[in-house]
Amino acid sequence: MKNIWTELKKPIFILAPLDDVTDTVFRQVIADLAAPDLFFTEFTAVDGLLSEKGNEAAKRRLLHTPKEKPLIAQIWGNDPEKFYEAAQMVSEMGFDGIDINMGCPEKSVVKRGCCSALIKNHELAGQIIQRTKDGANGLPISVKTRIGFREIETEDWISFLLKQDLAALTVHGRTVKEMSKVPAHWDEIGKAVKLKDQIAPQTLIIGNGDVDSYEDGLQKVKEYGVDGIMIGRGVFKNLWIFDHGKEHNPTLNERLEILLKHTRLFSDTWGSKKSFPILKKFYKCYLSDFAGAAEIRNKFMETNNLEDVETLVNQIIDNLLPEV
Ligand SMILES: Cc1cc2nc3c(=O)[nH]c(=O)nc-3n(C[C@H](O)[C@H](O)[C@H](O)COP(=O)(O)O)c2cc1C
Repeated sequence: MKNIWTELKKPIFILAPLDDVTDTVFRQVIADLAAPDLFFTEFTAVDGLLSEKGNEAAKRRLLHTPKEKPLIAQIWGNDPEKFYEAAQMVSEMGFDGIDINMGCPEKSVVKRGCCSALIKNHELAGQIIQRTKDGANGLPISVKTRIGFREIETEDWISFLLKQDLAALTVHGRTVKEMSKVPAHWDEIGKAVKLKDQIAPQTLIIGNGDVDSYEDGLQKVKEYGVDGIMIGRGVFKNLWIFDHGKEHNPTLNERLEILLKHTRLFSDTWGSKKSFPILKKFYKCYLSDFAGAAEIRNKFMETNNLEDVETLVNQIIDNLLPEV
């Protein structure tokens, strides 16, 4: 089966998985503005996928359209057998690869031995990777992780992962304890690249943490030798961050068009399955960094449904029309 990781031209620029943000709707919005080379889904629980009760909600996270391709499904859990079954399921849904989350620092998941807790449990991490491979019907398997749990342990943990013959390894340059409170340690990501050269030259290393522009990403590729760059929060500041450094200065009309398109797509896709206020965080990012942004933004914070948004957009556009 084809390996998307080796097919893509390097450096690979990737939109990070962001829970409650990078769903099929937001990915479609970004795909139309400036698509990354590769998309990831939000992290999806193998327990949910396999349980009758949680199956619908878990599958919602894996919903996608051809526009968001190539696309990697990210899964998480703590039971290797469930990873095997989930990988079988996911391999029939049209994804280009499966990624295992070994980096999420949320207390609720760490307490259950999932995600970043696996940094402290190499044996279980190894079993999970093996059973995911066994179930994946040839899809490439990757891992996204951090550089340690309490302390930096790049040498030990990243070396262990590189021995598992992964297609790719995304390294977020912080420990679990550091959450997002300190700048990412890019020197440790550079160390991971050197380890891969020695242990697993076939595995791609993707660097992640604090990249805030395309140029910044290219600079980090040059400085640290990574095969690709994953960008998360940077997309909130610049919706065109994947547009190869091209500058965009959207007019208010263009911003409102994006906002409206996102809201319509959200309504069409989710109906009442997701709550409308989720959209407010996107409105904040669509309506910022221009004169009068706060005032307009506040008006959108009071909307409750698509009709409210359409009415408000029309009112603003009418007021923008030049007088005749
Ligand atoms: C709101 C939010 C949700 C996230 N959800 C996920 C997730 O589902 N899976 C994952 O591997 N990482 C998740 N992350 C971590 C990001 O993918 C990324 O590693 C982190 O934000 C650092 O990259 P950045 O500095 O480019 O944002 C999340 C981060 C944020 C801020």
